[in-house]
Amino acid sequence: MISTVFPTSTPTLSGVRLSIRQLQPQVTLWRRQIHQRPELAFNETQTADFISQKLSEWGIEHRRGVAKTGIVAVIPGHRPGPVLAIRADMDALPIHELNEVDYRSQEAGVMHACGHDGHVAIALGTAYYLAQHRDSFSGTIKIIFQPAEEGPGGAKPMIEAGALEKPNVDAIIGLHLWNNLPVGTVGVKSGPFMAATEFFHCTIKGRGGHGAIPHQTVDSIVVAAQVVNAIQTIVARNVDPLKSAVVTLGELHAGSAVNVIADQARLSGTVRYFDAAYEGFFEARLNQIISGVCQAHGATYELDYNPLYPPVVNDAEITGLVRSMALSVVETPAGVVPDCQTMGGEDMSFFLKAVPGCYFFLGSANQTKGLAYPHHHPRFDFDEAALSTGVEMFVRCVESFCHQ
Ligand code: NI
Repeated sequence: MISTVFPTSTPTLSGVRLSIRQLQPQVTLWRRQIHQRPELAFNETQTADFISQKLSEWGIEHRRGVAKTGIVAVIPGHRPGPVLAIRADMDALPIHELNEVDYRSQEAGVMHACGHDGHVAIALGTAYYLAQHRDSFSGTIKIIFQPAEEGPGGAKPMIEAGALEKPNVDAIIGLHLWNNLPVGTVGVKSGPFMAATEFFHCTIKGRGGHGAIPHQTVDSIVVAAQVVNAIQTIVARNVDPLKSAVVTLGELHAGSAVNVIADQARLSGTVRYFDAAYEGFFEARLNQIISGVCQAHGATYELDYNPLYPPVVNDAEITGLVRSMALSVVETPAGVVPDCQTMGGEDMSFFLKAVPGCYFFLGSANQTKGLAYPHHHPRFDFDEAALSTGVEMFVRCVESFCHQ
């Protein structure tokens, strides 16, 4: 257990930054402690213990076990006012860490390779600061520590468990450390920000047989090959060319011997798009195409389609607030990056469908320190200087949104 004794300071503009910068060593230490004990989706029990212990130590009321391992902390300001939620995801990935740092993962095959350890540390730093400066905001701040962002998704079950109620949340913000942007920058964009993420698995069922006697069979490989080609037309011919979408086949499996016609072929893929108007469209189009191709060849199929996460869509007004806070935090207009959409997905989208809000990127790469590997890489790491910038972003958003 780490003793946490922090200095406090006057909440003036420069004082806010000074106080938060003084938290940097502690926030870095928490990040490293969490990094050493990564946990997979809905198994974040040690991480939840760690968070709960800190919140209790600071006298912050919180509810545990929200969607298994999630935590909702509540920090009231000095008088009634709006309710702003801050969301941090907690889970790690099934990746074996290859970094040689002294805080490397202690769990073989599990690693915080996306920066969620940093998200938890930033949220804790924010919670600590706000608990010490309740006079600097009105209303209530809810801090939502969410499990399982990497899938199957913890946001939806947390909402179903009442995370946005009692008190009802008026708006929500969240951030993702982002190695596609250099440290010291913030990526903010109104409207569609991250893509809808959908997955599918398809089994094409033919009739197997001897490789030399094809007329007695229905060759599932031939059918699958035509399906692979035909579904390329969904984006090329069916999606409005002014919209963006991706259909990627990541897996294709069939056959077991050179002289055997395969009975079945299995293919799996992912679909991404920004415009919520396309919800349901890709599943329907895949069914039409696959059934047509199968019918032409006397095959059948099963399609298992999972519309995992909707697109992340930022509210214009809250995004405007985040952007103006980003300008004051990074102190240079060039440091606030407007063109930062990604086809990556995020279940922050469920929170943003429920209440208005803004999800933004916190630049975390540093080429000169060798901290620029992409997210989900076994050598992923980020510049920890971003941690206090993240805390400052959240604190300034709180003080702006809850300023009455
Ligand atoms: Ni992530």
